Amino acid sequence: MKSVEIKPDIYWVGAIDWAVRDFHGYLTPNGTTYNNYLIMDEQVTLVDTVKQDFNTHTIKNIKSLTDPSKIVNIVINHIEPDHASSLDSIMALCPNATIYITNKGQKGLARHFDISKWKIKIVKTGDTLKTGKYTLSFLETPMLHWPDSMMTYVNEAKLLFSQDAFGQHLATSARFDDDFVECASITELNDAVVDYYANILMPFGRLIKSKIAEVQKLGLEIDMIAPDHGIIWRKDPGSILKQYLDLANGKAELRIALIYDTMWHSTERMTIPIMQGIKDEGVDCKVIKLRATPMSVAIKEFWKSRGCLIGSPTLNNLLFPSVAEFLTHLRGLRPKDRIMGAFGSYGWGGGAVRDANEEFKRMKLEMVEPGIQVLYKPSLEDENQCYEFGKNFAVKVKEYHKNFI
Ligand code: FEO
Repeated sequence: MKSVEIKPDIYWVGAIDWAVRDFHGYLTPNGTTYNNYLIMDEQVTLVDTVKQDFNTHTIKNIKSLTDPSKIVNIVINHIEPDHASSLDSIMALCPNATIYITNKGQKGLARHFDISKWKIKIVKTGDTLKTGKYTLSFLETPMLHWPDSMMTYVNEAKLLFSQDAFGQHLATSARFDDDFVECASITELNDAVVDYYANILMPFGRLIKSKIAEVQKLGLEIDMIAPDHGIIWRKDPGSILKQYLDLANGKAELRIALIYDTMWHSTERMTIPIMQGIKDEGVDCKVIKLRATPMSVAIKEFWKSRGCLIGSPTLNNLLFPSVAEFLTHLRGLRPKDRIMGAFGSYGWGGGAVRDANEEFKRMKLEMVEPGIQVLYKPSLEDENQCYEFGKNFAVKVKEYHKNFI
């Protein structure tokens, strides 16, 4: 897609990846974009690059605006390869350009490229770069997303280049939020924001809150947020800031995600009366079978819901592997403000429900113990107990949810 002017003399020059479905293990059914930006000021300045496979896209877009040899500055807000792996291709076209990057960014860059001949300027929060009519201010945001990360604010344009933050994995010809909503819907956009937050930024809620507070304290007026993935927020950038604050504060729906896997359908049979018990308590319920659902979707559904029930058969005295994988993945995302419970079937010794409860404790999540186990296949009596288990768990979730309203 050709370059798009987003502010006077500031252009999106990125690439759209319509086909990516596995983004380092994160399933992306809607593809993604690698956004980077060119400031056509007295000093031509590039902000970020794109994934290496797409370097011809961004180079073509840059060439449509200027000779790349005229690039004077390159700001690298984040060194993850989806944003920085084209840097050597770009530097080959403008070898005299100066790279602006954080200290940790430079160290990371040196692990990916031979940087010995590159001019690099280390920047920290508060440092500025005057490109002509525009002034760029740098704001370090370590761990949002990596230790090297920073954001760049263009003072005169009230524009924040936010790298991963406020992004979405959406391949779309729409470049702006209002364009996207016009051709798709706000629901689809919000869902993409939650999906991205849950799978990438969930561990960093506290940092997000403190960075947003820092931006507010600096009194930065923001009328556009341009992330490195997905659409650009121009219609109402305040709405995405609020959405992020809500997500960081643990906002969730009064709803239960029932996430399970099954061997011979016994654990699966348990989900039906449990779900019915939940519904009869007036709580919405989403049922997800792990081997039939991408991990990233299960994570998103977990994050949207105040409560979560994990169902697993016992295999060799342990959790079923797909359930263990899900819980390990979830633990790495350091979830908060959710309440958990466990259920499952077993043949002799048991162990899956016990291990699920242990995982919840390691994650320091609220939980309802001890869960429910069924020997081999649920009997009618077992199904009645599952129904009561679902009702009781829904009551606990409703009670817990009151802490957040
Ligand atoms: Fe989109 Fe942390 O890279």
